[in-house]
Amino acid sequence: MSEVQSTSQALPKDYLALFQEEPAARLTLRRLPVPEAVAGSVVIRVLAALILTYAREIYNGERKYYYPTPYVPGASAVGRVVAVGPDATKLSAGDLVIADATIRGRDDPEAIFLSGIHGGYSEGARKLSQGMWRNSTFAEYARMPMESCTRLNESRLLGSPQDGGLGLEVADLAFIQTAMIPFGGLRDINLRAGERIIICPATGNFGGAAVMVALAMGASVIAMGRNTEVLAKLKELGKGRVDTIQLSGNAEDDEKALQSYGGVDAYFDISPPQAASSSHFRSCILALKPRGRVSLMGGMMREQGFPCSVVVHNQITLRGKWMAEANDITPFLQLVEAQMLTLGEKGGVTVRGKFGLKDWQEAFDRAAANAQPGDLTVFTP
Ligand SMILES: NC(=O)c1ccc[n+]([C@@H]2O[C@H](COP(=O)([O-])OP(=O)(O)OC[C@H]3O[C@@H](n4cnc5c(N)ncnc54)[C@H](OP(=O)(O)O)[C@@H]3O)[C@@H](O)[C@H]2O)c1
Repeated sequence: MSEVQSTSQALPKDYLALFQEEPAARLTLRRLPVPEAVAGSVVIRVLAALILTYAREIYNGERKYYYPTPYVPGASAVGRVVAVGPDATKLSAGDLVIADATIRGRDDPEAIFLSGIHGGYSEGARKLSQGMWRNSTFAEYARMPMESCTRLNESRLLGSPQDGGLGLEVADLAFIQTAMIPFGGLRDINLRAGERIIICPATGNFGGAAVMVALAMGASVIAMGRNTEVLAKLKELGKGRVDTIQLSGNAEDDEKALQSYGGVDAYFDISPPQAASSSHFRSCILALKPRGRVSLMGGMMREQGFPCSVVVHNQITLRGKWMAEANDITPFLQLVEAQMLTLGEKGGVTVRGKFGLKDWQEAFDRAAANAQPGDLTVFTP
């Protein structure tokens, strides 16, 4: 058996990709040889790659993320499989897949890096990020680990409503990754239907997605943030299951507003680094019931003070979470297919821009300017 199993359709020899020579260097367009689908991998034709709202800050060096250069940047993407490694048992050429940027060591699943975004925090993760998965999805083609690609139910997701489909477009599916991340944190604290959860900040891209996902999981939400206009939209989206509290900038006022609920089951945080000095972290913990659970997914780099005595005596669980687990994807897709979580305009998800690779600067600017709940910007290389 040959080492590489390809589609009957011949692949081109090379492909166009965004390329970065070293951290913070200006991105350029480069032609690279199409990778082989060696054992354990698949090659996808990238159809829609998610652009994070803070992509600009990552690639201009502002965020000081470690990633291996030179390389092709990227993120999770929707793609069409064009070649599979010889050990594939389920995936085959032609499948529509979601390729998750979260890549784990096969000999150490705790060695995690984010394809095209972050080389990870351990020595093993960084070694993995520098190897055969170095080049990511801001490109026409990408080689991804087989286990990072999940086949999507194309007829259900993209089919027309007359044929039992949801009538979505490929670009809409890139939101799967935005919503999968908070799903990872909410599942990690075992959020249950009927519970009430504080989501703060709720007005950003991932925070807003967390509100949508918590509702889909059957919870009621207290959405907190500074922007009252966005909070009003979230309330409307919740159809009676979202209450809102504006972050006042005064910890005592926020605590009072939260404590009027008489004890909340859980709290989910996905703050950006810019929110490091906000007092909401403490206020939200103080609002929890005994044995309340906290999922921390924020990107705050500074240490945060927390009310230690309350955490101890109320037996609060604090859980940090980076991305979602591999086994979160199937239950997540079930929520989408069952329309518990609605993608596309009907679900409040709007594609704010679809860009070719050469327009990367405009694409990053568009993503940064559209960082509210349900906003989605993609490369369609
Ligand atoms: N753990 C993980 O796996 C994981 C995965 C992805 C991302 N993240 C982290 O999630 C963070 C948020 O990403 P995003 O795309 O949702 O960002 P975003 O769209 O820019 O949203 C940022 C949110 O933070 C709020 N905010 C900003 N400054 C604040 C301040 N000083 N005080 C209170 N709230 C403030 C914003 O509120 P306003 O609307 O009032 O400005 C908005 O709700 C990222 O920075 C990243 O580090 C973590």
